[in-house]
Amino acid sequence: MGGLKGIFTDVAPRYELVNRILTLGLDGGWRRTAARTAAAAGGRMWLDVCSGTGDMARALRRLAPPETRVTALDFCRPMLSRAAARDGSGDISSTLAEAQALPFPDAAFDVLVVSFATRNLNSSRAALEATFREFRRVLRPGGVFVNVETSQPPRRIIRAGFRAYVRLLVRPLSRLVSGSAGEAGYAYLAASIRRFYSAEELAEILLKAGFAETSFRRLLGGAAAIHRSVR
Ligand SMILES: C[S@@+](CC[C@H](N)C(=O)[O-])C[C@H]1O[C@@H](n2cnc3c(N)ncnc32)[C@H](O)[C@@H]1O
Repeated sequence: MGGLKGIFTDVAPRYELVNRILTLGLDGGWRRTAARTAAAAGGRMWLDVCSGTGDMARALRRLAPPETRVTALDFCRPMLSRAAARDGSGDISSTLAEAQALPFPDAAFDVLVVSFATRNLNSSRAALEATFREFRRVLRPGGVFVNVETSQPPRRIIRAGFRAYVRLLVRPLSRLVSGSAGEAGYAYLAASIRRFYSAEELAEILLKAGFAETSFRRLLGGAAAIHRSVR
């Protein structure tokens, strides 16, 4: 299997461990903060796109009132299988599909969340904008899209430190943990972190995609950011 899907199939077995190490264990807290932002929007239909092994879907499930339905979507079957195995409750439904063509009717969801995956939807700025339009389509008017992703720290010194960290540490660390199969995957991930947008630029793309309002909060000096956009 080649391409992006092949990369995620390769890294699936050790994905969570590598994530934890690469983000110095901070990814869990960032996900929970994003999940709380999403849960505050309420409603009964919540969707986690590019769910991977389901960390975010489970964080949402823990916050969800009983009648809420949480759906996890990913295009990589091994990721969804791991997510299903981790979901003791069995009440997160999973869907195998592409983020760019969601198999749901218009306005089907109150909340849509993406955690640490928007970079993968960014083959170009136009492609990312088109995918955000697709997210907007499945949200009801007033529905909320929450995105947590690495970002570009605004202060030059922090940005330089962050880039050096990514350049120097991400690759060797990934090689160590994932072996040669995962190496190509994490080389790709490191490159995608470098070329992603500042929080301001991402907000602009969200507005261009048709969201009515968008706000963001930076995490760790801007190494990551949570964006909240309203349809
Ligand atoms: C970096 S992981 C993030 C997983 C999870 N959201 C988290 O917070 O750990 C990215 C996930 O996005 C999925 N993915 C990448 N591109 C996708 C696409 N176009 N459609 C659906 N899933 C995609 C991958 O299979 C992978 O599971």
